[in-house]
Amino acid sequence: MKDFQQIFGAAPDSLASAPGRVNLLGEHTDYNDGFVLPTAIPQRTTVHLGFSPDGQHHFYSQELDELVSIWDHDHTPQGFASYIFGCIRLLEQEGHTIPPVNLHITSSVPIGSGLSSSAALEVATLRGLRVLLKLRLDDVHIAQLGQQAEIQYAGVKCGIMDQMASSLADTEHMLFLDTRTLESRVMPFPTGAEVLAIDSGVPRTLAESGYNQRRAECEEAARQLGVQALRDITDAQVVEGLPEPLRRRARHVITEDNRVLEVLQGVSAQRFGELMNASHTSLRDDYEVSVPALDALVAMLQETPGVFGARLTGAGFGGACVALVTSGQGLAIAQNVVERYGRTHNPGGRILVPEVSQPL
Ligand code: GLA
Repeated sequence: MKDFQQIFGAAPDSLASAPGRVNLLGEHTDYNDGFVLPTAIPQRTTVHLGFSPDGQHHFYSQELDELVSIWDHDHTPQGFASYIFGCIRLLEQEGHTIPPVNLHITSSVPIGSGLSSSAALEVATLRGLRVLLKLRLDDVHIAQLGQQAEIQYAGVKCGIMDQMASSLADTEHMLFLDTRTLESRVMPFPTGAEVLAIDSGVPRTLAESGYNQRRAECEEAARQLGVQALRDITDAQVVEGLPEPLRRRARHVITEDNRVLEVLQGVSAQRFGELMNASHTSLRDDYEVSVPALDALVAMLQETPGVFGARLTGAGFGGACVALVTSGQGLAIAQNVVERYGRTHNPGGRILVPEVSQPL
């Protein structure tokens, strides 16, 4: 564990951090201009920054124990450095002068579990540069730059949910976001409920190709229906004339948007849970982004007393589940389910939220 001083031989000039996120409802809707409802998680990514005296940028990841040194005019690097490099380049394209920096990253956001470790890195980096260089950047613009860094420099055609959640959400509220207008509103969790998240231990293989394919199918469905984006349709009946699989893909997006909008009216924890369960069914059957292990984990959660509802969260194809449970029972429920799931399905399951040091 090497700190900034040990890597760069000087004290840092600024620091900033940003959280990962878990999405409660509104999955695969953000690239359809739809509605999402994420919350921040306790795990965060922290960057320490200073000025680099030798003309190069130097990025160090403590978790990976990897140092990347790069000239500003170099090609985009691979791996974690691509996100940071992308943020710097995008700021320069907007007319900001970014001098060579030393940047040191520590993170408790698990990588590859679907909790948006990359968005947390982008937002922390942009916040850190804002402090170091006294840049005028608001939080929504930071999210937009983070999303562009991911799309243009890391090659992932993501929506804007993850970066908006990392930039605007906190752990005590849900963040309702209209991904078309970027209007957002913080909302309390349903009364008497808290959130838990469990990693299935199944790596998100196919996540990228499957994600891009779903995105293309949604765009084609919108084109055939003559709308700008699926968000423009509220009546799920409208999709019935579409060829398969576009009919099912569009039906998921439209019903999912409607589920999020129902929450906006104010619903009980029980109703919220029912909407999460319906979301999982829709993601599994209509959107086809679940895998058997996630289905098993979700079913175990749904059958456990104290659980209002559960579903896969994030892009799917592996990764994590989220559940809404009775306040105060999150840790006990998560321990119980992870233990049973470990015996019957996958010993790699682990608790992500509440934050606990593993193994228990
Ligand atoms: C990933 C993407 C998000 C969103 C989700 C699915 O996390 O980064 O933009 O599309 O998948 O809801």
